[in-house]
Amino acid sequence: MSTVSMSVDLGGIEMRNPLNTASGTYGNGWQFEGFYDVGATLGAMTCKGVAAEPWDGNPAPRLAELPGSAIMNSVGLQNPGVRAFVDGHGAYLQGVRDRGCQVICQVVGHSIGEYVRAMELFEELAPFASGFEVNISCPNIARGGAAMGATCDGAAEVMRAVRPLTSRPVVVKMAPHDVAEIGRALEAEGADALSLINTIPGMAIDVRTRRSRLARATAGVSGPAVHAIAVRMVWECAQAVSIPICGIGGVATGADAAEMLLAGATAVAVGTANLYDPACAPRIASELGQWAQDQGVSDINELIGAFEC
Ligand SMILES: Cc1cc2nc3c(=O)[nH]c(=O)nc-3n(C[C@H](O)[C@H](O)[C@H](O)COP(=O)(O)O)c2cc1C
Repeated sequence: MSTVSMSVDLGGIEMRNPLNTASGTYGNGWQFEGFYDVGATLGAMTCKGVAAEPWDGNPAPRLAELPGSAIMNSVGLQNPGVRAFVDGHGAYLQGVRDRGCQVICQVVGHSIGEYVRAMELFEELAPFASGFEVNISCPNIARGGAAMGATCDGAAEVMRAVRPLTSRPVVVKMAPHDVAEIGRALEAEGADALSLINTIPGMAIDVRTRRSRLARATAGVSGPAVHAIAVRMVWECAQAVSIPICGIGGVATGADAAEMLLAGATAVAVGTANLYDPACAPRIASELGQWAQDQGVSDINELIGAFEC
């Protein structure tokens, strides 16, 4: 058991340890209760993206396995809308928060108006939310998502619209490109923290049928295959902004999480690894604590950004 102080501050979201979960790979938490006590274990959990009104998502097949525990998905942010999300999961999520795990609710939209409406509903109906993650980076929807987060102007416009609607911390989920420039634009508009990366657009073709292995031509790649790219982007972004970053991308071990911290991340979210190793989060948290202890620090914050070239 590590004696290192593991608590970190993700832009006002006080986490008992740096371990978070990546949106869309963790259900809404209760699906993992059979493996460990979510509220007693994680620093934070991030819920699936939710819009003001229900979305159907994309046609199936939406998932394809790739070599090396990587996957591709084109789920397309299927969700029941904020009211049904709160009715279905709010009581459980309040319990998680009461046990010391911060609950981050993810906000999605196809347009500025939809982001605003979803944030207004969350603000009104979700007292259990410790903060919000605004997703401007989903590669699997035709309108909104990555299209809005692709430029500094688009990202700033979303942030300007939602920022005044809540006094709770706002994290922005970024796409895997231009992270320094777009990160700076988001910081200037009042983002409290940034999370990166979302999945990287890719293709998987069934050469026998000459068709995509998923219902859409392109889909988002995630898992260990994207880890090195994600670490590089966290490092680039961390040098450009002074707000904290949650590092996401292929984290499956304590060493992967430690790399994210050394590159400049304050917290780390586990994504695809939850799907093939559902008990991984507590193991990663304890491996991270052991690493910090082996580094001879008394506080994990001493290791954030401690990478030397
Ligand atoms: C099945 C699936 C669903 C996802 N849904 C969302 C989502 O709703 N919102 C979001 O911001 N990211 C979503 N993501 C992206 C993850 O949160 C994460 O950014 C990405 O998978 C990279 O991390 P990983 O390599 O650890 O999985 C999803 C990823 C997967 C695999």
